Amino acid sequence: MEPNAVADELVLRRDEGAVALLTLNRPKALNALNQPLLQRLGERLRELAGDDAVRAVVLTGAGEKAFVAGADIAEMADYDAATAQHFALAGQHILNHIASLGKPVIAAVNGFALGGGCELVLACDFAIASTKAKFGLPEVTLGVIPGFGGTQRLARLIGRHNALRWILTGDVHGAEEALRLGLVTQLVEPEQLQAVALEVAQRIASRGPVALTAARKVVDAGWDVPLADGLRKEAAAFGQLFRSQDQKEGMAAFLQKRPAKFTGN
Ligand code: CAA
Repeated sequence: MEPNAVADELVLRRDEGAVALLTLNRPKALNALNQPLLQRLGERLRELAGDDAVRAVVLTGAGEKAFVAGADIAEMADYDAATAQHFALAGQHILNHIASLGKPVIAAVNGFALGGGCELVLACDFAIASTKAKFGLPEVTLGVIPGFGGTQRLARLIGRHNALRWILTGDVHGAEEALRLGLVTQLVEPEQLQAVALEVAQRIASRGPVALTAARKVVDAGWDVPLADGLRKEAAAFGQLFRSQDQKEGMAAFLQKRPAKFTGN
């Protein structure tokens, strides 16, 4: 097989209408994130960012066992300090790209989401999980800490104490706990996971694309700032949307009692 064909298979892409399904595909290593897989994921994200036909993305893992079991331990074991820092920065860069893609990304968590896999979930807009999914940041069991954003995003999402409980124990947690703490928004039976995630993504993809991008941006922009600043950002973005064709179409369609046909302009 051509080298590119092999690399291509590391992150499969299947489009269904305006939704792209990305499947991380190293099932024999529980989809562990090695450098080639991360690089391919980065390429796929750039591809999706530039594809106007795609309005929402679902991210999942190949096989029944794992979403992603973390960064590749075999690859990392002999890193020196500088290489490890570079690896963490490169991983953070790719996960930041998910968080700033401009299109909603839903994680469909089909199994283990540990370490870098859990951090991948944290970078998505939200996550739907199989009842059999398992979550955790077990890095301390390896003598390290999370490096792809886990120490920052988990605390922001589930609060400092719960985040520290997860990070300091390194324990693996069931899907029910992830739901209770707000790491995932919905649990479904394993065999229904992909269909449910795609259905939710299709619903999102039918909404105004300009508004979707603005909504994500404003929620994230307000994350770390005082409420008054966040509200100002919200009002500014709300105003800007009235320059868009999507706003005109969305409101006209409501008043004319017909479905909206958004163009993303
Ligand atoms: N890196 C490399 N290979 C991995 C891996 C990882 N993170 N996780 C699993 N694998 C490989 C195993 O080595 C094994 O390969 P072989 O068949 O060649 O031996 C294969 O996947 C299947 O795994 P197991 O035999 O271990 O499966 P299991 O059912 O007994 O256990 C598991 C499943 C509990 C998820 C276990 O594999 C495990 O604990 N994995 C490591 C989880 C982990 O510590 N993740 C954090 C990584 S560090 C990190 O992510 C840093 C960061 O923040 C960026």
